[in-house]
Amino acid sequence: MFDNIFMIVAMTEKTNSIGLNGDMLYHLKDDLKYFKETTLNETIICGRKTYFSFPKRPLPNRKNIILTRGNNEYEGAYTLHSKEDVLEYAKSHPEEKIFICGGDDVYSQFIDVASKLYITIIDEEKTVVADSFFPEFSDKDWELTSESRYITPESAPRYKYCVFSRKK
Ligand SMILES: NC(=O)c1ccc[n+]([C@@H]2O[C@H](COP(=O)([O-])OP(=O)(O)OC[C@H]3O[C@@H](n4cnc5c(N)ncnc54)[C@H](OP(=O)(O)O)[C@@H]3O)[C@@H](O)[C@H]2O)c1
Repeated sequence: MFDNIFMIVAMTEKTNSIGLNGDMLYHLKDDLKYFKETTLNETIICGRKTYFSFPKRPLPNRKNIILTRGNNEYEGAYTLHSKEDVLEYAKSHPEEKIFICGGDDVYSQFIDVASKLYITIIDEEKTVVADSFFPEFSDKDWELTSESRYITPESAPRYKYCVFSRKK
């Protein structure tokens, strides 16, 4: 477990759905603000596919790191090439808060080393259609340490911000 590796995601409540056809399932205005406030001036790491789904990139006022097996360089962003590279980076930058920002592929590789999960939980009355998911996690390993009230937009399901910390 790394004290400086966190994950941040918006997922549906029942099926942990996060994306479809390379895009997010929902574009929730207040959640995007929450994501920005939480990650501002920190380090974000995301898979190459998620990075290229951002309408504006790199995300401003954050250190942007792209995880890719390719050798391309991307203006305004750093690249790392393996899980081991990321763990080395986290070890050598203990002063940085590192937010793993997805997607599906990347979340599933890093949930075993993260110490906190910042999860926006979106109500799911009917199962949504998705092709990308956040991994299952259990209350054996994680405890809910903070939970907001529900935000209720006019034209989207309601949602709330939760933080889970790994049990010691
Ligand atoms: N709801 C949310 O909060 C949220 C957040 C983020 C993403 N999403 C959604 O998730 C979906 C994208 O997820 P995804 O799984 O398809 O793609 P992804 O995880 O964003 O990116 C996968 C790519 O990351 C690179 N990669 C992954 N593991 C690596 C490793 N160990 N070493 C080196 N490179 C590695 C590879 O890039 P190369 O091919 O360049 O080698 C791989 O093709 C989209 O629908 C997106 O909207 C949702």
